[in-house]
Amino acid sequence: MAKKGSGGITGPTGGQRQLHVRVKTARKRSTSSARWLERQLNDPYVAAAKREGMRSRAAYKLLEIDDKHRILKPGQRVIDLGAAPGGWSQIAADRVKALDGQGDKRGQVVAIDYLDVEPLPGVDFVKMDFTDEDAEDRLKSMLRDGAADVVMSDMAAPTVGHTRTDHLRIMGLAEAAAHFACDVLSPDGAFLCKVFQGGAERDLLDLLKRNFKTVRHIKPPASRSDSAELYVLATGFRGDKKAEDADN
Ligand SMILES: C[S@@+](CC[C@H](N)C(=O)[O-])C[C@H]1O[C@@H](n2cnc3c(N)ncnc32)[C@H](O)[C@@H]1O
Repeated sequence: MAKKGSGGITGPTGGQRQLHVRVKTARKRSTSSARWLERQLNDPYVAAAKREGMRSRAAYKLLEIDDKHRILKPGQRVIDLGAAPGGWSQIAADRVKALDGQGDKRGQVVAIDYLDVEPLPGVDFVKMDFTDEDAEDRLKSMLRDGAADVVMSDMAAPTVGHTRTDHLRIMGLAEAAAHFACDVLSPDGAFLCKVFQGGAERDLLDLLKRNFKTVRHIKPPASRSDSAELYVLATGFRGDKKAEDADN
């Protein structure tokens, strides 16, 4: 993958303007799937992902967040929770120099998903449900020195279409990811996690505020404005075991 700043990953602004494609509702295609197809065909991030060999459109969300907040640095150990099909892992492996860094500037990416991820250079992948009781130990055992500098989670359970239920399920995953982050991060580490607006966030925010110096919400441009999706970024992990335990 090309390096940042070298004209490699440019995102939707790097390409030429696309012509708008209209999709008619064929007999076998429902209105909603026609709408989905039309949106995909006209989405500049989908086009950029295809052009630039990114595994997912979601890769640009991490790219935009990291361009602005500078979370990923050469040499860091990163955990990617809910990694399939691998877009975030691709970006992380590139930025921490998991493949081509020298000495302590060579980073590491450990990724997990219960879906398959095609092998990615510089990424150690485990196919497993993160909520399995063995998952956290398995991830820790794969890390250099057993600790991480960044934990990121884009985990989302399949939606059932009932907004409240979908939000609660996402927030359950986000809270599990946050507890794991507090357990595995080294001091000054960072946690980035998908959440949902209106998704019972209070407990999560309390936990993060106790354990990190800065907690903020982020909506990167690549996150569709009509979606309730939002990211929470917590930086400056205090590494204080008692603060985490206060929640238990
Ligand atoms: C939005 S996708 C992630 C996209 C990814 N960040 C990328 O850039 O390619 C959400 C992923 O979370 C995974 N996921 C949801 N719940 C999970 C769990 N309990 N354990 C592991 N993965 C999970 C799903 O299988 C799905 O692949």
